[in-house]
Amino acid sequence: MVATPAPLSALAHIPGRRGLPYVGVALEFIRDPYAMGRRHTERFGPVFRQYLLGHWTVSLTGADAVEYVLGDPDGMFSSYEGWRLLHELFPGGLMLRDGADHRAHRRVMQAAFRASAMRDYLDGMNGGIATLLDGWGGEMRFYPAIKDLTLKLGAAVFMGLPLEGEEAQRLNRAFQAEVAASLALIRAPVPGLAYKRGLDARAYLTGRFAEMIPERRARPGPDFFSQLVAATEDGWSEQDIVDHLNFLMMAAHDTTTSALTTMVWALANQPEWQEAIREEIAGIGGTTLDYDDAARMELTERVFKEALRFMPPLAFIPRQAERAFTWAGMEIPAGAHVGVSPGAVMISEEYWSHPDRFDPDRFSPERAEDRSHRFAWCPFGGGAHKCIGMHFALLQVRAFTFQFLRRFRVEAVAGTDADWARVPIAKPKNGLPLRLVPLGH
Ligand code: HEM
Repeated sequence: MVATPAPLSALAHIPGRRGLPYVGVALEFIRDPYAMGRRHTERFGPVFRQYLLGHWTVSLTGADAVEYVLGDPDGMFSSYEGWRLLHELFPGGLMLRDGADHRAHRRVMQAAFRASAMRDYLDGMNGGIATLLDGWGGEMRFYPAIKDLTLKLGAAVFMGLPLEGEEAQRLNRAFQAEVAASLALIRAPVPGLAYKRGLDARAYLTGRFAEMIPERRARPGPDFFSQLVAATEDGWSEQDIVDHLNFLMMAAHDTTTSALTTMVWALANQPEWQEAIREEIAGIGGTTLDYDDAARMELTERVFKEALRFMPPLAFIPRQAERAFTWAGMEIPAGAHVGVSPGAVMISEEYWSHPDRFDPDRFSPERAEDRSHRFAWCPFGGGAHKCIGMHFALLQVRAFTFQFLRRFRVEAVAGTDADWARVPIAKPKNGLPLRLVPLGH
């Protein structure tokens, strides 16, 4: 049963701030959500409410809160109701399902991530990365370049389309409009505005995916779409397949783009780490990553983990409480929209030494700072909705880094250090200018 959203009167005893009409504290949140969170915690304590784009959210701070809400031991938090910003654009996506329905769908989807399928995806990634990196070199803005690369790679690996054909381009444009709409401030289908463009794009994408299902069923390829179609012969509707694919591409794209950007920014600024990874890659040998060698890229994994701690793509996770509960002595009513912040936990001095330093060795077996709390390091969330694409993301990051650092030395460009937007998905506001020096491999 879904609880009706809690009215302000039910939240009145929780300290907090309304801010401006309708937008609430959204502008402050966008400017620096962590600084705002710290200010609110100092002023109101570990539980507070804030008004954001027409809704009240109750923030629960600290790693215990992240563990409780995401781990959800009492089965009382709805992810569907929490992610209401995505209801119209990504209905039916895995993250927008709850309880038994979510478990059943997740089990089927898991089949598309089994090892033999992952080997095929890696082949697709390797070929795509090799082709797309051919156009790289010199001074470039890294963020738009990697966004374009992962989008094209996504068309190939997820959809089974050629990297750069007309169809892939159309789908990619529609997909970008859909993602942009999910972040739009004005959420009404007004012609000419981003939200309406996103809804139209969704209609186009889902229509096109539906048309492709019979092709993928008749002639399955090594792509994710074919795997999903094969895994779902036991009773999913066409709409289910289309909805999952649509959501999954969104969940995979901006997050991986963001993580790779932070990583490469760090490698440009810490040449000793760049060199260490280049040596790791040289030690493995070959021109592209072999699936059986992926686990040998340990230093790469350490830098990736630190990048996700330092600049988590998804810093906040929303839920709705379906029943009343008490947290830190505060009664939270049924229907309250609740937010927790993996991002704030991952830069907290409570769990990390000098959290403002980019220091991959904090993940070394000797230091293992990520073990300081079960949810000290949680960029992929946790509990029933923990990212299903975590290993896929790590594989893609390893495959990219393998070829990228074999081919280029990456250098920071003086006077252009990144200024990061932390929300909705972390990215450098200046696009991150970098210099790529070809290494002649
Ligand atoms: C560095 C990259 C990534 C990060 C940081 C990330 C982060 C997350 C987080 C925090 C969640 C949990 C959201 C919640 O609990 O409400 C999540 C869920 C999800 N992610 Fe990822 N993700 C990444 C890459 C991917 C990739 C590559 C895929 C697909 C191949 C993917 C597919 C999904 C799906 C389907 C869910 C929903 C799972 C469920 O509800 O059961 N993600 N991701």
